[in-house]
Amino acid sequence: MARIAHLSDIHFGAHDPRIVDATEAWLIAQRPDLVVISGDFTQRARVAQFREASAYLNRLRSAGLKLLAVPGNHDVPLYDVIRRFAAPLRRYERYISNDLCPWFENDEVAVLGLNTARSLTIKDGRLNHAQLAMVHDRFALVASAKTRILVTHHPLFAMPIGAGGELSEAVGRHDDAVRAVCEAGVHIALAGHFHRTYAEAARKMVERAGRSLIIQAGTATSTRLRNNEPQSFNWLDVERSNTVALQVVAWNGTGFQGASHVQFDFNGSDWSSQVLTDDPASKRSAVPRQQCEPATR
Ligand SMILES: [Fe+2]
Repeated sequence: MARIAHLSDIHFGAHDPRIVDATEAWLIAQRPDLVVISGDFTQRARVAQFREASAYLNRLRSAGLKLLAVPGNHDVPLYDVIRRFAAPLRRYERYISNDLCPWFENDEVAVLGLNTARSLTIKDGRLNHAQLAMVHDRFALVASAKTRILVTHHPLFAMPIGAGGELSEAVGRHDDAVRAVCEAGVHIALAGHFHRTYAEAARKMVERAGRSLIIQAGTATSTRLRNNEPQSFNWLDVERSNTVALQVVAWNGTGFQGASHVQFDFNGSDWSSQVLTDDPASKRSAVPRQQCEPATR
């Protein structure tokens, strides 16, 4: 079984230092096989914020943890227009990672990270054709028994983000992205961006989405909360590609503790879920199915 910690939207510059320390202590104590961080390391892509993020990652690396990171839209300078267009990810590459297509593979999982942050859009993300080809090419070489996991900052699908379940924008080239994920046989798609935890079968969102399970992380350490959802991160026990347990680890004001805990099982056509703890947050309603619409950007 692979044990994966999935953090997102750390936002140094808009972070709570106590919560940063608590994530670090938790990760070092629990020692996952991989720590995934799906973007938004900083609040405004400033050097001081990147330095804090870099120091945090270095402490995790020094403790022997393996990391896989992708940038978020907040890691591209917003107000520094020259830097935004001339070198949008130079600071990210210097302080976080110079690999914008990170890859992790062990005996059980293969994990690919892709950058969805762009200069031209302030908060929306997109994938280009080369990245979509990479999804196919990298996973095509992976042994069939391994669980294939894709990591992006922006979710590939429109997500329910409002208090009433209002849907977000989907990632740019949404149709192409859905097709690539389906054809590559991606089992799990991890993302962040909306500061809201969520998990659902892709097929419940888009009819032709294939078999993937979509898992969203909340904000791990920032004070930018959506719908008052507390800071949290996800813990995945990936037993096999068709059996995954997702534990949300949430901040309770003084420390992190296990919140919703759900096991997902894939029977060959659908994912079913079984609540492992009786937490109200784990009893999520189904998402209305969307039509596949042509990519507009
Ligand atoms: Fe964010």
